[in-house]
Amino acid sequence: MSPSPTDVPPALADPADGVAVLEPHAGSVAYGIPLAVLAELTHRCPLQCPYCSNPLELERARAELTTAEWKRVMSELADLGVLQFHLSGGEPTARRDLAELVRHASDVGLYTNLITSAVLLDRDSLAALADAGLCHIQISFQGSVPKAADRVAGLNGAHAKKIAAARLARDLDLPLTVNAVIHRQNIEQLPDIIAMAVDLDADRLEVANVQYYGWALKNRAALMPTPAQVEDAVAIVEAARERLAGTLVIDHVIPDYYAVRPKKCMGGWGRQFFNISPSGKILPCHAAETITGLDFDSVRGNRSVAWIWQHSEALNRFRGTDWMPEPCQSCAYREIDYGGCRCQAFALTGDAANTDPACTLSPLHERLFATAEHEATAGAAEFVYRNFSGGTAEGGGRRR
Ligand code: SF4
Ligand code: FES
Repeated sequence: MSPSPTDVPPALADPADGVAVLEPHAGSVAYGIPLAVLAELTHRCPLQCPYCSNPLELERARAELTTAEWKRVMSELADLGVLQFHLSGGEPTARRDLAELVRHASDVGLYTNLITSAVLLDRDSLAALADAGLCHIQISFQGSVPKAADRVAGLNGAHAKKIAAARLARDLDLPLTVNAVIHRQNIEQLPDIIAMAVDLDADRLEVANVQYYGWALKNRAALMPTPAQVEDAVAIVEAARERLAGTLVIDHVIPDYYAVRPKKCMGGWGRQFFNISPSGKILPCHAAETITGLDFDSVRGNRSVAWIWQHSEALNRFRGTDWMPEPCQSCAYREIDYGGCRCQAFALTGDAANTDPACTLSPLHERLFATAEHEATAGAAEFVYRNFSGGTAEGGGRRR
C-alpha cells in the first residue's frame, strides 16, 4: 500500500531515543544501530492513492529483489541489531512469497509489521501470514464513508474489503493499527474514523495528515486542508484521546506547513531508520530518490548492509548537524528536529541542504504558508491518481 506519510514507524514515534550508538560520525554526532527498517517489497498496488509516498518513478516488478535476496537482507538486518521489519509497498501482499518472507523474518528474530491496503487479503492468506509469525498488521483507510473512500483509493469496493480484512485480523488475534491518511476531502470524517477504529477493535489509530512530496505534492491543491480544519481536528483528537484512554491509542501527525517547527523527519536522516526500495536501494526515507545528485547504494552491490549503513555517502550527506546552514546551524532546535525534512527542502527550494521551509525561521516559510492557505480554499478537487504511467487525472486523461 502507500504507507502513511508519518515521519517514523509506530514504535519509534517518540524516539527519545534509546538509540544504541554505533560510532561517532564527522567528529560530532553519533548515529545509532537502525532500530527499524521499512521494506518496500514492491511498488505494484491495486490502489491509486493521490498521496502515495512512493516515488513518482515507480520501480517495475522485474527489478524487484528475489525471495532469496530479501532473505539474505533480513538475516543481515538481524545481525546488525535491527528490531523491527516493516513489510510495505506498494502493496506487499502483491508478492506471492510474502508468507515465506514473514517466516524468515520471524526465524531470524525480527518483529514484523505488515503495512497493507488489505484489499487482496482473505481468511486463508491472513491465516498463513499469522501462522508464519506475523506480529502486527497496519491497515490503511481512505476515510469512513465507503463511496468517498473508494474514490480516493481509485478502486470500487476497496473500503468494504478493508473492513472485512480488519475483522479477520482481529479474529486471528493480530494486533491492529488503523492508519487513516487525512486531507481536506476527508478531514470532516474524523469523528467517524475514530469511531470506526474503536468498532474494529484496533489497538492504535494513526491520524496521519498528508505530507507533501512526490504524489502528494502533485495533488497538493486537492488535498491541503485549511488551518481552521486542522485546528478542529487537533481538538477532536485531544477529546478522543481523553475519552478513549485505555481503549485506543491515537497518534496524530499534523501537516507541517501549519506547524511552527518542522517534523523530525524519519527521526533524523540516516540516524535510526532506513528504507529498502523494491530493487534493493538503501534510502534514509521513502522520498530520498527525489533529491538529485545523491547516489544510493544497493544491497545488490558487493557491500554488506552494515557497511552501507555506516559508509554510504548519501546517508552521511545529511547526518548529524555539520551540514546545516543558518538559521539551523545556530538554532537551539537543531538536535531536536535535525533541520526537518531534506526531501521537502529539495522539493520546495531546489536544494536539499536548505532549511526546511516548514520551519517558521526559514525565509521561505511565510510564502509557503500563504500558498497552502490559498490552495486550501481555491476549490481544486480533482485528483491525479498514482500509477506506473506517471499519473492519471481523475475522470480520464493522463497527466504528468
Ligand atoms: Fe529546526 Fe532549523 Fe528551524 Fe531550528 S531553524 S527549528 S533547526 S529547521
Ligand atoms: Fe523527509 Fe525524505 S521524506 S527526509
